[in-house]
Amino acid sequence: MKIALVGATGLVGSVMLKVLRERGFCNCELIPAASSRSVGKKIKFGDKDIEIVSVDEAISKKPDFAIFSAGSSASLEYAPIFAKNGTTVIDNSSAWRSYEDIPLVVPEINGDILTSKDKIIANPNCSTIQMVMALAPLHKKYQIKRVVVSTYQSVTGTGMNAVNQLFKERAGEECNMAYPYPIDLNLFPHGGSFGDDGYTTEEVKLLNETRKILRDNSIQVTATVVRVPVTGGHSEAVNAEFHHEFDISEVFSLLDSMPGVVVLDDPANNKYPMPIFAEHNDDVFVGRIRRDLTQPKTLNFWVVADNLRKGAATNAVQILQYIIDKKI
Ligand code: A2P
Repeated sequence: MKIALVGATGLVGSVMLKVLRERGFCNCELIPAASSRSVGKKIKFGDKDIEIVSVDEAISKKPDFAIFSAGSSASLEYAPIFAKNGTTVIDNSSAWRSYEDIPLVVPEINGDILTSKDKIIANPNCSTIQMVMALAPLHKKYQIKRVVVSTYQSVTGTGMNAVNQLFKERAGEECNMAYPYPIDLNLFPHGGSFGDDGYTTEEVKLLNETRKILRDNSIQVTATVVRVPVTGGHSEAVNAEFHHEFDISEVFSLLDSMPGVVVLDDPANNKYPMPIFAEHNDDVFVGRIRRDLTQPKTLNFWVVADNLRKGAATNAVQILQYIIDKKI
């Protein structure tokens, strides 16, 4: 099997290499591609050193799959060319997510929508993935009416430049700014770009992508996205109102039985999810699960996941595994 990885030198790309190796893809023919800045350099994949090629060269090798994490404009330009050549594209950017005929997939939730006709498949936004992983089993049982979410997002979600900015600032060194403001010892309520309605693109994604993945356009989601000086993962405070009443112990067991979700909720012993626990893990951690005492049928919880793993690389490789396992 041939797998192209477009954006192989990036932050998500490097985690994709790890996840592919961990999940048994070591013997596939890997075709790492990146921008012209990186062509000719080598990257490690298992015990092999593989030369990085241009995206055009990767297309000409007609891989079975191409996993993209190189930003929206590269995805918009190249994904259709791969697809036309018979390659199945799994795209981590936001370029294709809102197209009606492009599946937006979290395999544990809606992998069943995939068919052999799908040549471009979209990987959802990192903050959406971890939220819907917790919401999906609850939606099935109690039907979500409205979600209020505030995110505390890791700088790794912005890429290598943002991580460099944080650590250079911390070391007191000059650096190229990935953000409009310092991020060390700071935070800002700003992820993506602002629309005329005052919401950012990252906030709008949480509404649209949740509806698409949970297949319910009646769900309301209102979000505030905040960037914080953290590297291990994204955290989210979620307030979810349901149409039907729930039993809190049943909520715990529904979350416990959701594949890929780990309940970490032991307040008496100060145990709750945190980025330092989630980092390098494929699971989504949920804790601080409690009834909202101010409103009926409403639940509060806290959800944390490594945004580079389940929020990006792991979910993309799981889509690949799903297609192979189900012989789609
Ligand atoms: P390069 O390293 O050559 O710039 P990050 O999100 O961590 O900044 O990484 C972005 C990734 O996307 C890198 O691998 C980068 O390659 C790659 N990339 C950016 N623009 C393009 C492009 N137009 N074509 C191919 N790869 C691209």
